[in-house]
Amino acid sequence: MTDKETQAPAEEPAGRLILRTLAMPENTNPQGDMFGGWILGQMDLGGAILARELARGRVVTVAIDKMSFIAPVNVGDIVCCYGRCVHVGHTSLKIHLEIWVKKLEDANAVRRKVTEAGFTYVAIDDDGKKRLLPESLRNGWDGTAERAAGPGIC
Ligand SMILES: CC(C)(COP(=O)(O)OP(=O)(O)OC[C@H]1O[C@@H](n2cnc3c(N)ncnc32)[C@H](O)[C@@H]1OP(=O)(O)O)[C@@H](O)C(=O)NCCC(=O)NCCS
Repeated sequence: MTDKETQAPAEEPAGRLILRTLAMPENTNPQGDMFGGWILGQMDLGGAILARELARGRVVTVAIDKMSFIAPVNVGDIVCCYGRCVHVGHTSLKIHLEIWVKKLEDANAVRRKVTEAGFTYVAIDDDGKKRLLPESLRNGWDGTAERAAGPGIC
C-alpha cells in the first residue's frame, strides 16, 4: 500500500456554501484578534438565510449549541459559512453550520475549519408567534437534496 492510499481523506466542509465574506480589521480587538462574536454573527446570518429559505418566511434563532472555536481567524481571511439542515420539527429546524477560512493573498492556500455549531430556528408569523413549517418540508425533508448540492467553493 502506498502512503497516498493509507492517508485519511482530507475533511471537507459539511453542507453548502451560504455566505462568503472577508475578515476586516474593524472586527478585531485592539490586539488584532478577531472577535468570536463576529464569527458567531456570520454563522447566525448564514443559518438564518438557509432557515428562511426552507421555512419559506420569517424565522428567529431560538438556540445555539455545541459552539467550538477550533482555530483563529485572521484579518484578510476569506470567511466561508457552510450549512445543512440536520433536523426538521413542527415549527423548528436545526442547521449545522461550519466556518472555513482561506488566505486571500495566497493562491495556493488551503482552507481550514475554524468553528462549527448547531443553530435552531423557529418559523414565526407576522405577530412573532410560532407557525408550522411548510407541510412539504415537514413531510418531505430527508436531507438528500442538500447532500447532493455539495459544498461549493471557498
Ligand atoms: C421562538 C419563540 C416564538 C417560540 O415560542 P414558544 O411558543 O415558546 O415555542 P415552543 O417552546 O413551543 O418551541 C417551539 C419550537 O422550538 C423548539 N425549541 C424551543 N426552545 C428550544 C431550544 N432551547 N433548543 C432547541 N429547540 C427549541 C421546540 O422544541 C419547538 O420545536 P417544534 O415545534 O419543531 O417541535 C419564542 O421563544 C421567542 O420569540 N423567542 C425569542 C427568539 C428571538 O428573539 N431570537 C433572537 C434573539 S436576539
